Amino acid sequence: MGRAGSVLVTGGAGYVGAHVVLALREAGWPVVVLDDLSTGRLLPLHRDCSVVLGGVGDRDLVRETLARYDVQAVVHLAASILVPESVRHPLAYYRNDVAVGLALLEACVAHGVAAFVFSSTAAVYGVPERSPVDEEAPTRPINPYGWSKLMFERVLRDAAAAHDLPFVILRYFNVAGADPELRAGPLPDGPTHLVRVALEAALGLRPFVPVFGVDYPTRDGTCVRDYVHVSDVATAHRLALDYLLGGGAGAVLNCGYSRGHTVREVVAAVERVTGRSVPTRVAPRRPGDPPEVVADARRIRDVLGWEPRWTELDAMVAHAFAWMRRGRPAEAATRRAG
Ligand code: UFG
Repeated sequence: MGRAGSVLVTGGAGYVGAHVVLALREAGWPVVVLDDLSTGRLLPLHRDCSVVLGGVGDRDLVRETLARYDVQAVVHLAASILVPESVRHPLAYYRNDVAVGLALLEACVAHGVAAFVFSSTAAVYGVPERSPVDEEAPTRPINPYGWSKLMFERVLRDAAAAHDLPFVILRYFNVAGADPELRAGPLPDGPTHLVRVALEAALGLRPFVPVFGVDYPTRDGTCVRDYVHVSDVATAHRLALDYLLGGGAGAVLNCGYSRGHTVREVVAAVERVTGRSVPTRVAPRRPGDPPEVVADARRIRDVLGWEPRWTELDAMVAHAFAWMRRGRPAEAATRRAG
């Protein structure tokens, strides 16, 4: 495996991105972050890499960055990621998550990038027929966010076949937690996923957790998801690069633990970890919520040798709690003016 150049991480100032940067730096990779800071934040950890402020859709900037930093591999994380927003603004999602990525791919092909890792999502499966869901299951997204990710997967696979661009697609399940050393964590104004909502309720920042549906055909009537620690997700990206630069063939890999937790189990974990009570209130089902989404994650272990470290729900909750309580360092407030 040659390490002649650097790794470009688009969206490297985002939640998953910051953890990927940590994992790559720990493995000795020179890292270049491309981020427009529209949702991401710069943290002290970013002092350890090169930061290019700008959008992935800026073709000249991308071309210049690939050349200037001698980019050997690309991890493409920059994206719009909110399901309800994607329903209200589908065109923005198709632009940000498909068209912009296409421009990036063209630049990567022209530059001769040796490895491309793409951040996809379990949302490509829509409402899975089976659980655990494996990578061969039908892909039938039920919202523009899922469709935009699936479309980019298709574009990437076709481009890879025609232009010799080795790729790994990682389909994340429910990413949660924070760096155990608290160098990175969920963004302060990031999406309202369940673990965050429950922690905010524990901290008294919101009065209760709405439990969206208690009559699903699951063990306690609430939805089951496969929560995966963000640091383990980050490690999967590092392993994917090693795999590709070692000659590995294109692969689509679920990134989850093959173990589901209900909404009520997550709330109980938050109570256990924080030692505080978390009020809940039964709420109507949220449209488009599948009853159960759990990964069949055998392939990622086989192909990448991924050995996740933080599979206990309590660890994810504890790390996220510690990050939220600590607040963010002063530098974290750095935002591009305007
Ligand atoms: N939930 C609640 N109350 C809340 C928030 C969530 O009951 O306040 C429930 C949801 O109904 C769902 C579960 O908790 O059953 C998890 O919900 P999240 O919003 O945390 O996450 P999702 O499973 O909806 O979404 C995640 C990713 C998406 C991705 C999707 C694919 O965040 O980006 O998985 O399945 F598209």
